[in-house]
Amino acid sequence: MSEVLPLADNEVHIWSVDTSCVSPELIAGYRALMSAQELERNGRYRFEHSRHTDCVARALVRTVLSRYVDKAPTEWTFAKGEHGKPELTHSPQPLRFNLSHSGDYVVCAVSWQKDVGLDIEYIERKNDVLAIADRFFSKPELTDLFALPSARQEDRFFDYWTLKEAYMKAHGQGISLGLGNFSFKLDDSDAIGVSFADKLEDNPADWCFRLFYPVPKYSMALAFRIGDENPQRFSVRQFSTIPLQG
Ligand SMILES: CC(C)(COP(=O)(O)OP(=O)(O)OC[C@H]1O[C@@H](n2cnc3c(N)ncnc32)[C@H](O)[C@@H]1OP(=O)(O)O)[C@@H](O)C(=O)NCCC(=O)NCCS
Repeated sequence: MSEVLPLADNEVHIWSVDTSCVSPELIAGYRALMSAQELERNGRYRFEHSRHTDCVARALVRTVLSRYVDKAPTEWTFAKGEHGKPELTHSPQPLRFNLSHSGDYVVCAVSWQKDVGLDIEYIERKNDVLAIADRFFSKPELTDLFALPSARQEDRFFDYWTLKEAYMKAHGQGISLGLGNFSFKLDDSDAIGVSFADKLEDNPADWCFRLFYPVPKYSMALAFRIGDENPQRFSVRQFSTIPLQG
């Protein structure tokens, strides 16, 4: 076995793949890593681009997980939680992961034990972001967004959107958490504030959030439930990879 990659308890690793750099030969290798169920699901995607992205996503998860635990990429098994969040089954150690894909990118966050959620979005200039925000964002988020000069509204929209998705994905309940039950607070500093409605029984102090702009035209947010650990010691490492290539 090759050496395992160290990952601390208060650390998250984010792995990203530019799917446009993946050749058909590599896709054949990825298909060889996939389970019968994954191959069957892949065949149901209507568009070639979606099938390609899905193969990369399956290969990324499997090869990345095998960097941390002595298990072959083909041996990982997964199950979905009540709201569809995939988790590992039969893992010898409590690894957690979360996947996101948009445009040409597939990204995967890995942590030990604690809840982690990741969201990447391709910033499509054709979106009417204010109309979408009006439908999905909290009152304070909307107030902040509408107060910005129009040239900055689109970027701020994607900051809120990816943070909201990352939190919902870390939590695992997805949209059923209720978009009105949590609200982010951004300003011109790097601070990311959050508040929760009482009914969520969640504590802002338990969470660390980060925003990233990994490549032009993409926004990405990470949510990590740090719990009792010191948030000052929380760290994130980012890696670019092409599965089975390096
Ligand atoms: C299901 C959901 C995770 C979809 O998110 P998305 O942004 O469309 O897609 P992403 O690419 O970021 O994530 C998809 C991946 O997340 C994982 N996932 C699926 N359900 C999940 C859940 N409940 N929790 C966490 N992760 C989940 C899966 O690995 C999935 O990829 P896969 O199917 O290829 O394995 C969920 O957040 C959702 O329904 N969002 C609705 C969108 C919305 O209204 N957002 C409002 C934001 S203000």
